[in-house]
Amino acid sequence: MMQSFKEHALTFESFLQEQELFSRKPENLYEPCAYILSIGGKRIRPSVCLMAADMFGTVTKDALWAAATVELFHNFTLIHDDIMDQAPLRRGQVTVHEKYGTTAGILSGDVMNIMAYQCLEHVQAPFLLPLLSLFNQTAIEVCEGQQLDMDFEQKELVSEAAYIHMIGHKTAVLLACSMKIGAIVSGVNETDAALLYTFGKNLGIAFQLQDDYLDTFGNPALVGKQIGGDILANKKTFLAITALQNADTHQRTALQALAQGHSPTKVSDTISLFNALDVAASCKRAIQTYTDKANEALAAINIAPEQKVAFEELVAFLITRDY
Ligand code: IPE
Ligand code: IPE
Ligand code: MG
Ligand code: MG
Ligand code: MG
Repeated sequence: MMQSFKEHALTFESFLQEQELFSRKPENLYEPCAYILSIGGKRIRPSVCLMAADMFGTVTKDALWAAATVELFHNFTLIHDDIMDQAPLRRGQVTVHEKYGTTAGILSGDVMNIMAYQCLEHVQAPFLLPLLSLFNQTAIEVCEGQQLDMDFEQKELVSEAAYIHMIGHKTAVLLACSMKIGAIVSGVNETDAALLYTFGKNLGIAFQLQDDYLDTFGNPALVGKQIGGDILANKKTFLAITALQNADTHQRTALQALAQGHSPTKVSDTISLFNALDVAASCKRAIQTYTDKANEALAAINIAPEQKVAFEELVAFLITRDY
């Protein structure tokens, strides 16, 4: 009987606790790492790694250490992302750099990234090179996506294709990689591992579209981040791009003036225009499009349908999530 997403998340959580990775000195280096891990997080990436191992085989120690790799790497990117995005809140709590300072944010992030790689030392030799190679490629792509995300803040117009490329890199490849790593350590064939990667990549794009949606339209009590942060930072989210596409000349001028200015009502005025231009509905349609693509790849995996249930549940959770 395959375990659910929730059960895998719990398995991972107790594995991570047991390792006591950050009960070390100097405290000022490791406490921020322990802090970010302790304040929540959905644990999607390690869970999908374990789900993939479970789907194609069993959850081994290799799968658990690989799951730790992707979750530590993810938390490292969040610490640095919050510095770049000047974000005050993460998971409903103060961000690392606001709580401990920028130096801590940089260095604790760095050490967490290195310790993510260190977890791979526990993986058995035959899997090590394929894992390292996929993980390195992914980490480079995440940096490329993050750079594009930052570059786009300074651009007036970004195409939808360029945006999809950017989120495919900053977000989707890590989800896809997390799944494929779980598949690799279970020894599955390359065809099915590749289909799972395609599933993860498209689901990751849908996931970032939902992240964009929640940043503007989410319930602050649930999202745990500063609502409107993307608008304040002039992020070229799907919402911002679609608004400019749908706007008439007058609305386009208003949107661009708001983006360039620092009006105290920047967020609410931008949201009013977003609402007039019905961008939330467009975003939901795009989420459905990429979810459909993901489901197509999942359906093509050559394994009994009952082995896919946990991933189907995950899809349902991700497209309806409010946090
Ligand atoms: C947030 O990821 C960063 C993005 C790639 C959008 P999650 O929404 O998975 O963050 P946590 O780990 O659950 O807090
Ligand atoms: C984050 O994108 C992507 C990475 C962390 C690499 P966002 O900047 O949208 O993530 P949140 O909204 O801060 O979680
Ligand atoms: Mg960002
Ligand atoms: Mg951010
Ligand atoms: Mg976001």
